[in-house]
Amino acid sequence: MNILPVDIRRGDHHYDILVGDLLPGRWLEEIEARAKSDKYFAVIDARAAAAHDIPARLAGRRGWRITVLPGGEDHKKIADYAALCESLIADGVDRRSVVAAIGGGVVGDLAGFAAATILRGVRLAQVPTTLLAQVDSSVGGKTGINLAGGKNLLGAFQQPEVVIIDPGFLATLPEREFRAGMAELVKHGIIADQDFFDRLAASAGFFAKRDPAFLAEAVAHSCRMKADIVGGDERESGRRALLNYGHTFGHVLETLAGYDGSLIHGEAVGVGMALAAKFAADRGMIGRNGVQRIVLALRRLGIPVCLDDLPQPLEGRGDWRKRLTADAILAAMLKDKKAASAGLTLILPADIGDCRARPGVPAAAAAAFMLEALAESGEMAVAPPTGRRYNNKETGP
Ligand code: GLY
Repeated sequence: MNILPVDIRRGDHHYDILVGDLLPGRWLEEIEARAKSDKYFAVIDARAAAAHDIPARLAGRRGWRITVLPGGEDHKKIADYAALCESLIADGVDRRSVVAAIGGGVVGDLAGFAAATILRGVRLAQVPTTLLAQVDSSVGGKTGINLAGGKNLLGAFQQPEVVIIDPGFLATLPEREFRAGMAELVKHGIIADQDFFDRLAASAGFFAKRDPAFLAEAVAHSCRMKADIVGGDERESGRRALLNYGHTFGHVLETLAGYDGSLIHGEAVGVGMALAAKFAADRGMIGRNGVQRIVLALRRLGIPVCLDDLPQPLEGRGDWRKRLTADAILAAMLKDKKAASAGLTLILPADIGDCRARPGVPAAAAAAFMLEALAESGEMAVAPPTGRRYNNKETGP
């Protein structure tokens, strides 16, 4: 087992991320040893609960109470948060209790935000069961829920007491979710570690087999990088913002897709990273060759880089891509909580392993670029502005 320390310098908080072979039951012992309490509140994603028989494992254990929640970005609303808090209160949560968030990013964010706010804050343990949550959302203390006005607009920083990561949880993850998590893993390489990017780009076979030793190593490396970044900048006033690479464009796609499962976060980030790389190349920040390497690596790993790579629209929902008009893209971009009156701060690659923050990008320019780049990236259903025609080329952005 790897023990990775996280030292949040602001507030002087320390915790460990444990990565390794902790199934079937050692993870529970680790929580109980590292976050001592007589009351634990397991908030479990329904898919993970069924796939790993978690409620049965907890049933006979002293002091544990269980809430099972549906996953999916659509279940991270005020009403879901209120219902969870009411149920924790009804079950007797108190200031010494520990909430254990067991699941993907949605359950981690929702249960984490409940822990941050209920009774003005109780302790939290994170047990991420998806690749995306293991490499990204469970580390660094961001928690939150969505408002009608946008994603994660209500939230808090709530550092956990411990994060437990077992790649064994990934064996049962649906393929689409697994690939979405791979996008965040590759993101860490593009941001700050070219060797890691190269290793991942050459590891399609290990990913396809979900090789546990490979995944443990890759996830641990990624968590080490993230721990280092968030340790020095918990509140995202500097370096942490680099982790938003691909997210400004990605959030526009997620907003327009509507959080109904048509598009999941990591898929949007894959397309967003390809777009941000092209945006950087158009401004002479990175060579076309660098963009090609990023796009080819993502493609080789099965991570979407353009609209054509995304799953077909959900039955009976219509094609959300038809909503990608100039006005809608701009409106969604301005809703992003990272948008400031002085313009957007985009995270752009100067090289692979060297992303930089570029502040002051006019939202209108970023939105116009996005519409055009998406239209160029293959056959797709973007409605062009009146009087304008787009070519449908075969290649990615
Ligand atoms: N997911 C980006 C961050 O944790 O800052």
